[in-house]
Amino acid sequence: QTHFTIAIDGPAASGKGTLARRIAEAYGYHHLDTGLTYRAVAKALMDQNMPLDDEFLAEKAARSVDLSKLDRTVLSAHDVGEAASRVAVMPAVRRALVAAQQGFATRPPGAVLDGRDIGTVVCPDAPVKLYITASPEARARRRYEEIKSNGGGANYEEILQDLTRRDARDMGRTDSPLKPAADAHLLDTTEMDIETAFLNAKTLIDQAL
Ligand code: C5P
Repeated sequence: QTHFTIAIDGPAASGKGTLARRIAEAYGYHHLDTGLTYRAVAKALMDQNMPLDDEFLAEKAARSVDLSKLDRTVLSAHDVGEAASRVAVMPAVRRALVAAQQGFATRPPGAVLDGRDIGTVVCPDAPVKLYITASPEARARRRYEEIKSNGGGANYEEILQDLTRRDARDMGRTDSPLKPAADAHLLDTTEMDIETAFLNAKTLIDQAL
Protein backbone atom coordinates (compact mmCIF):
# COMPACT_ATOMS: atom_id res chain seq x y z
CA GLN A 1 0.00 0.00 0.00
CA THR A 2 1.50 3.34 -1.05
CA HIS A 3 -1.08 5.63 0.49
CA PHE A 4 -3.69 5.42 3.22
CA THR A 5 -6.73 7.71 3.38
CA ILE A 6 -8.67 8.74 6.46
CA ALA A 7 -12.02 10.45 5.85
CA ILE A 8 -13.51 12.64 8.58
CA ASP A 9 -16.91 14.31 8.26
CA GLY A 10 -19.23 16.21 10.54
CA PRO A 11 -21.02 19.51 11.11
CA ALA A 12 -19.34 22.83 11.92
CA ALA A 13 -17.49 23.00 15.26
CA SER A 14 -17.88 19.26 15.90
CA GLY A 15 -14.16 18.95 16.59
CA LYS A 16 -13.40 17.19 13.30
CA GLY A 17 -10.69 19.66 12.28
CA THR A 18 -8.79 19.36 15.56
CA LEU A 19 -9.09 15.59 15.42
CA ALA A 20 -7.94 15.48 11.78
CA ARG A 21 -4.86 17.57 12.58
CA ARG A 22 -4.05 15.41 15.60
CA ILE A 23 -4.30 12.20 13.53
CA ALA A 24 -2.21 13.61 10.67
CA GLU A 25 0.48 14.66 13.12
CA ALA A 26 0.55 11.29 14.90
CA TYR A 27 0.81 9.25 11.68
CA GLY A 28 2.93 11.66 9.64
CA TYR A 29 0.17 12.06 7.05
CA HIS A 30 -0.86 15.08 4.98
CA HIS A 31 -3.94 16.96 6.14
CA LEU A 32 -6.50 18.87 4.11
CA ASP A 33 -9.32 20.84 5.70
CA THR A 34 -11.64 20.78 2.66
CA GLY A 35 -13.84 23.48 4.20
CA LEU A 36 -11.00 25.88 3.41
CA THR A 37 -11.38 25.12 -0.32
CA TYR A 38 -15.07 26.18 -0.25
CA ARG A 39 -14.10 29.19 1.86
CA ALA A 40 -11.40 30.14 -0.69
CA VAL A 41 -14.02 30.19 -3.48
CA ALA A 42 -16.37 32.34 -1.38
CA LYS A 43 -13.55 34.72 -0.40
CA ALA A 44 -12.39 35.13 -4.02
CA LEU A 45 -15.93 36.10 -5.06
CA MET A 46 -16.43 38.40 -2.06
CA ASP A 47 -13.12 40.19 -2.68
CA GLN A 48 -14.19 40.96 -6.24
CA ASN A 49 -17.72 41.97 -5.24
CA MET A 50 -19.16 39.15 -7.31
CA PRO A 51 -22.47 37.43 -6.55
CA LEU A 52 -22.23 34.20 -4.54
CA ASP A 53 -24.80 32.35 -6.60
CA ASP A 54 -23.40 32.72 -10.14
CA GLU A 55 -22.37 29.16 -10.94
CA PHE A 56 -20.21 30.12 -13.93
CA LEU A 57 -18.10 32.64 -11.96
CA ALA A 58 -17.96 30.38 -8.92
CA GLU A 59 -16.75 27.43 -10.98
CA LYS A 60 -13.98 29.59 -12.43
CA ALA A 61 -12.95 30.57 -8.90
CA ALA A 62 -13.07 26.92 -7.82
CA ARG A 63 -10.76 25.87 -10.66
CA SER A 64 -8.24 28.50 -9.54
CA VAL A 65 -8.05 27.29 -5.93
CA ASP A 66 -4.47 26.37 -5.05
CA LEU A 67 -4.39 23.77 -2.25
CA SER A 68 -0.92 24.89 -1.17
CA LYS A 69 -2.04 28.48 -0.67
CA LEU A 70 -5.04 28.09 1.65
CA ASP A 71 -4.60 30.66 4.41
CA ARG A 72 -6.47 29.54 7.51
CA THR A 73 -6.25 32.92 9.22
CA VAL A 74 -7.73 34.82 6.29
CA LEU A 75 -10.42 32.22 5.58
CA SER A 76 -11.57 31.56 9.15
CA ALA A 77 -13.79 34.68 9.32
CA HIS A 78 -17.38 33.94 10.22
CA ASP A 79 -18.94 35.63 7.18
CA VAL A 80 -16.64 33.60 4.90
CA GLY A 81 -17.96 30.35 6.43
CA GLU A 82 -21.52 31.46 5.85
CA ALA A 83 -20.71 32.42 2.24
CA ALA A 84 -18.85 29.12 1.75
CA SER A 85 -21.97 27.12 2.58
CA ARG A 86 -23.79 29.09 -0.13
CA VAL A 87 -21.25 28.46 -2.89
CA ALA A 88 -21.05 24.80 -1.73
CA VAL A 89 -24.58 24.06 -2.99
CA MET A 90 -23.50 24.51 -6.64
CA PRO A 91 -22.60 21.24 -8.41
CA ALA A 92 -19.99 22.84 -10.74
CA VAL A 93 -18.13 24.23 -7.72
CA ARG A 94 -18.22 20.85 -5.98
CA ARG A 95 -17.01 18.98 -9.09
CA ALA A 96 -13.96 21.24 -9.44
CA LEU A 97 -13.03 21.15 -5.75
CA VAL A 98 -13.67 17.42 -5.35
CA ALA A 99 -11.27 16.68 -8.24
CA ALA A 100 -8.51 18.65 -6.48
CA GLN A 101 -9.30 17.00 -3.14
CA GLN A 102 -9.15 13.53 -4.69
CA GLY A 103 -5.67 14.32 -6.01
CA PHE A 104 -4.61 15.31 -2.52
CA ALA A 105 -6.06 12.12 -1.01
CA THR A 106 -3.58 9.90 -2.87
CA ARG A 107 -0.44 11.63 -1.61
CA PRO A 108 1.91 9.08 -0.02
CA PRO A 109 2.26 7.88 2.64
CA GLY A 110 -1.25 8.93 3.65
CA ALA A 111 -3.75 11.76 3.92
CA VAL A 112 -6.42 12.87 6.35
CA LEU A 113 -9.24 14.89 4.78
CA ASP A 114 -11.99 16.50 6.81
CA GLY A 115 -15.21 18.05 5.54
CA ARG A 116 -18.85 17.18 4.86
CA ASP A 117 -18.74 14.66 1.99
CA ILE A 118 -15.34 12.98 2.29
CA GLY A 119 -16.62 9.50 3.20
CA THR A 120 -19.63 9.70 0.87
CA VAL A 121 -18.28 11.41 -2.27
CA VAL A 122 -14.61 12.44 -2.23
CA CYS A 123 -13.08 9.22 -0.86
CA PRO A 124 -15.82 6.56 -0.85
CA ASP A 125 -13.16 3.82 -0.69
CA ALA A 126 -11.26 5.24 2.30
CA PRO A 127 -10.35 2.37 4.68
CA VAL A 128 -11.21 4.53 7.71
CA LYS A 129 -14.23 6.84 7.87
CA LEU A 130 -15.22 8.82 10.92
CA TYR A 131 -18.36 10.89 11.41
CA ILE A 132 -17.97 13.36 14.26
CA THR A 133 -21.01 14.84 15.97
CA ALA A 134 -21.75 16.86 19.08
CA SER A 135 -24.90 18.56 20.31
CA PRO A 136 -25.58 21.99 18.75
CA GLU A 137 -25.20 23.54 22.22
CA ALA A 138 -21.78 21.96 22.78
CA ARG A 139 -20.64 23.07 19.34
CA ALA A 140 -21.90 26.63 19.87
CA ARG A 141 -20.14 26.75 23.24
CA ARG A 142 -16.84 25.64 21.66
CA ARG A 143 -17.10 28.21 18.90
CA TYR A 144 -17.95 30.85 21.52
CA GLU A 145 -14.93 29.98 23.68
CA GLU A 146 -12.69 29.94 20.61
CA ILE A 147 -13.73 33.44 19.53
CA LYS A 148 -13.44 34.74 23.10
CA SER A 149 -9.96 33.28 23.58
CA ASN A 150 -8.87 34.97 20.36
CA GLY A 151 -9.96 38.26 21.88
CA GLY A 152 -13.11 38.65 19.78
CA GLY A 153 -16.63 39.56 20.80
CA ALA A 154 -19.19 36.76 20.62
CA ASN A 155 -22.84 36.16 21.39
CA TYR A 156 -23.69 32.55 22.28
CA GLU A 157 -27.32 32.69 21.10
CA GLU A 158 -26.29 34.17 17.76
CA ILE A 159 -23.61 31.52 17.26
CA LEU A 160 -26.08 28.75 18.07
CA GLN A 161 -28.56 30.18 15.56
CA ASP A 162 -25.91 30.49 12.84
CA LEU A 163 -24.68 26.93 13.40
CA THR A 164 -28.22 25.58 13.20
CA ARG A 165 -28.86 27.45 9.95
CA ARG A 166 -25.59 26.23 8.42
CA ASP A 167 -26.33 22.61 9.49
CA ALA A 168 -29.73 22.83 7.79
CA ARG A 169 -28.20 24.18 4.57
CA ASP A 170 -25.41 21.55 4.55
CA MET A 171 -27.76 18.63 5.34
CA GLY A 172 -30.58 19.83 3.12
CA ARG A 173 -28.79 20.45 -0.17
CA THR A 174 -29.32 18.11 -3.12
CA ASP A 175 -25.67 17.66 -4.15
CA SER A 176 -23.57 15.82 -1.55
CA PRO A 177 -25.56 16.64 1.60
CA LEU A 178 -23.86 16.21 4.96
CA LYS A 179 -24.63 12.69 6.24
CA PRO A 180 -22.63 9.77 7.59
CA ALA A 181 -21.38 7.23 5.03
CA ALA A 182 -22.99 3.82 5.54
CA ASP A 183 -19.64 2.44 6.73
CA ALA A 184 -18.59 5.42 8.88
CA HIS A 185 -17.81 5.08 12.57
CA LEU A 186 -19.83 7.58 14.59
CA LEU A 187 -18.08 9.52 17.32
CA ASP A 188 -20.12 11.84 19.55
CA THR A 189 -17.78 14.37 21.16
CA THR A 190 -20.41 16.21 23.23
CA GLU A 191 -18.85 14.88 26.44
CA MET A 192 -15.50 13.81 25.04
CA ASP A 193 -12.18 15.66 25.02
CA ILE A 194 -9.90 15.69 22.00
CA GLU A 195 -7.45 13.15 23.44
CA THR A 196 -10.21 10.60 24.08
CA ALA A 197 -11.57 11.17 20.57
CA PHE A 198 -8.05 10.66 19.21
CA LEU A 199 -7.59 7.38 21.12
CA ASN A 200 -10.92 6.11 19.75
CA ALA A 201 -9.85 7.03 16.23
CA LYS A 202 -6.39 5.51 16.73
CA THR A 203 -7.89 2.13 17.64
CA LEU A 204 -9.91 2.12 14.39
CA ILE A 205 -6.97 3.26 12.27
CA ASP A 206 -4.54 0.72 13.71
CA GLN A 207 -7.03 -2.06 13.00
CA ALA A 208 -7.28 -0.97 9.34
CA LEU A 209 -3.56 -0.37 8.73
O1 C5P B 1 -15.85 23.26 7.67
P1 C5P B 1 -16.09 24.70 7.28
O2 C5P B 1 -16.92 25.43 8.26
O3 C5P B 1 -14.81 25.42 6.98
O4 C5P B 1 -16.89 24.63 5.91
C1 C5P B 1 -17.48 25.77 5.32
C2 C5P B 1 -18.62 25.32 4.43
O5 C5P B 1 -18.09 24.65 3.29
C3 C5P B 1 -19.57 24.32 5.06
O6 C5P B 1 -20.61 24.94 5.77
C4 C5P B 1 -20.09 23.54 3.87
O7 C5P B 1 -21.21 24.17 3.27
C5 C5P B 1 -18.94 23.60 2.87
N1 C5P B 1 -18.22 22.33 2.79
C6 C5P B 1 -18.74 21.35 1.97
N2 C5P B 1 -18.06 20.19 1.78
C7 C5P B 1 -16.90 19.95 2.41
C8 C5P B 1 -16.37 20.93 3.29
C9 C5P B 1 -17.06 22.11 3.47
O8 C5P B 1 -19.80 21.52 1.39
N3 C5P B 1 -16.26 18.81 2.18
